[in-house]
Amino acid sequence: MHEIEWSKLPFGYFKTDYNLRCYYRDGKWGEIEISSSEIVNMHMAATCLHYGQEAFEGMKAYRGKDGKVRLFRWEENAKRMQRSAEGILMAKVPETLFKEMVFKVVKLNERFVPPYGHGAALYIRPLLLGSGVQIGVSPANEYMFMVFVGPVGPYFKEGFNPVKMQVIRDIDRAAPLGTGHIKVGGNYAGSLRASERAKSEGFASVIFLEAKEKKYIDEAGPANFFGIKDKTYITPKSDSILPSITNMSLMRLAEDLGLKVERRQVAVEELAEFEEAGACGTAAIISPIGTIVERESGKIYTFSKDGKAGPWSTKLFQKLQGIQYGDEADEHGWVTVIE
Ligand code: PLP
Ligand code: COI
Repeated sequence: MHEIEWSKLPFGYFKTDYNLRCYYRDGKWGEIEISSSEIVNMHMAATCLHYGQEAFEGMKAYRGKDGKVRLFRWEENAKRMQRSAEGILMAKVPETLFKEMVFKVVKLNERFVPPYGHGAALYIRPLLLGSGVQIGVSPANEYMFMVFVGPVGPYFKEGFNPVKMQVIRDIDRAAPLGTGHIKVGGNYAGSLRASERAKSEGFASVIFLEAKEKKYIDEAGPANFFGIKDKTYITPKSDSILPSITNMSLMRLAEDLGLKVERRQVAVEELAEFEEAGACGTAAIISPIGTIVERESGKIYTFSKDGKAGPWSTKLFQKLQGIQYGDEADEHGWVTVIE
């Protein structure tokens, strides 16, 4: 293997040694298979290819100073994948199977878990596919669950430096009673036009509004949104955003740090009152937001005047990463060491 430049890793695909696969047939899950192939063999009439029966997860394994490899709140990812499966009528992956495959694939690819101190981690991508054949629109009878991994760096090239984001009103990511609250591929397909346009216009990401009234913030591309004012951590409540495990954890850590926490509708105009703003997620960790521009009106909201993250975002980032890498006591029992 060529030397990997751990501190220069982008957030991207990286070939590793093994992935794991398991098939649901005749109403039950089979044996776990180890594969070195990057290719999936799929029937051309499989429901994942036509009717979007596909869900995925995103988690990370972190190597500590002690050399140990830690997973952060994997049970929450297992549960969320079950909710995704329920939401689009796929076979659910039992928590025990999810755990076995995630832990095993990390072990098998342990040489790709970045060493401590580079801000990198091993990204884990569990993927559930409708592999059974249908031509009429109905759920498949067969499913494939696979897990692959790859070392990654920060999602936004800026790392922990403030990014620019764009509020838009002419494209929705998810419908109010649709699938925005689960992690299915269709949501991401629906977001591409908006996010590519934002990138071409010089923004790191798009901020989607709830689709009905276009008044309140939903989420920030592939991450949840939060703002901070008057010692309060404020994050949107909406049925069309993905419940972020990072955000759930930050709400808890914010309380631990003495902030009040509010989960409620956040009107776009309220941006003018925030002292800090950020995007949070497994891939993004915390990405501080420096500027938000409303695309239609050109209105600008500024959160960072010195090009640096704000003090509360910095404390939250350090606390979260401290727990994930094992530098800080795991007071909430969020971390599992992979033995
Ligand atoms: N929102 C969306 C649309 C996402 O894709 C993600 C990534 O998983 C998140 C939010 C953040 O969720 P989590 O913190 O569980 O990774
Ligand atoms: C994550 O934060 O883990 C994500 O899945 C975001 C994106 C890469 C889809």
